[in-house]
Amino acid sequence: MPGPLGCVAGATIAAFAALAAMFSGVWVRLLLAPMEGLLDDVLRAALTRVGGYDHAVSEFARVSGTVLPERFFRRIVPELDHGGRTAAGTPVHVQMLGSDPACMAVNAARLARLNPPGVDLNFGCPAPTVNRHRGGAVLLDEPELLWRITQAVGGALPAGLALSAKMRLGVNDPARAVECAQALVDGGAQLLVVHARTKADGYRPPAHWEWVARIAEAVPVPVVANGEVWSAQDWVRCREVSGVADVMLGRGAVADPFLAQRIRAGRLHEPDAAEREREWQALQPLIGAFVCGVQRKVEARHAPGRLKQWVHMLARKHERARALFACIRPLRTLPEVVAELGRHGIPCDAPAIACAQT
Ligand SMILES: Cc1cc2nc3c(=O)[nH]c(=O)nc-3n(C[C@H](O)[C@H](O)[C@H](O)COP(=O)(O)O)c2cc1C
Repeated sequence: MPGPLGCVAGATIAAFAALAAMFSGVWVRLLLAPMEGLLDDVLRAALTRVGGYDHAVSEFARVSGTVLPERFFRRIVPELDHGGRTAAGTPVHVQMLGSDPACMAVNAARLARLNPPGVDLNFGCPAPTVNRHRGGAVLLDEPELLWRITQAVGGALPAGLALSAKMRLGVNDPARAVECAQALVDGGAQLLVVHARTKADGYRPPAHWEWVARIAEAVPVPVVANGEVWSAQDWVRCREVSGVADVMLGRGAVADPFLAQRIRAGRLHEPDAAEREREWQALQPLIGAFVCGVQRKVEARHAPGRLKQWVHMLARKHERARALFACIRPLRTLPEVVAELGRHGIPCDAPAIACAQT
């Protein structure tokens, strides 16, 4: 794109800067992905405290033949007891997964009593146990059923409660991707997140962002791109290929908690060592508070594993996280881990970050 930024040395920097300028004044929707077993309320609290997200989506509540008690939804999404928001104020939409329209509708009505900021439907989960019971991505072979589920759930929700759906491109190939997207929107989904891979692709790169473009052209609701956005540069490429600026961040957000903030601010370069160090300093209290939050939630013997899981992902981007991970990796008990964190300047006496804290 020509313009005053064209004189900046280095074509890549110029291109990124031009893109940032193009979007200045335009709101980009940035969503925090649902990630079962990884991104629960405690990690959501940490990541949304760093900020940059319009809303987060919870791990899925699986609906299979029964009416789930309210406490079930509250357990998966403790934020429901706090206005449906994380401690930092980010709304958390609750995700549901299931295949029986009537049962999904009854459960959606039950969920609605807890006043979630939004409800999302999962048509992307590739897990064999879930798919065997006709849940998640396997339903992408049945667009008519997608329509019926969405319609039933939409009909059970009070007017004004946002309904979205998250889909993959298909089961084995993307031949019916547009048909599925249209079925979801015709059924009442007001926003679509497209994880740009098929179920068969699993989580293997690449993400086929060009299919997001095809879907966005075919439906009259906002379409959010998802898959393989690990850096602001990835976001730029995703936007170029998909034509969609709105993005849902999953593993990239966990590995790089400042990613959404950087995209939001148009800081599209990869941070240099000094910036990473500043980010690490800001992350330290959040890691300490994360450990406190995890301790409250899981048995002490499971807490070290949860910390290692996050630090291992942070190590993709942060040199200091790599060093920390090497030290905590062999440790088995919580007191050992807490002592090691202390040696790395990470206090664990911080108040736990969870939705309970305001
Ligand atoms: C550990 C893990 C758990 C996930 N759990 C869910 C889930 O509960 N619901 C859902 O819709 N997607 C789930 N996903 C998919 C992510 O939301 C996202 O679509 C996927 O990771 C691609 O985005 P990314 O490349 O930015 O990570 C999960 C992914 C991972 C890796």
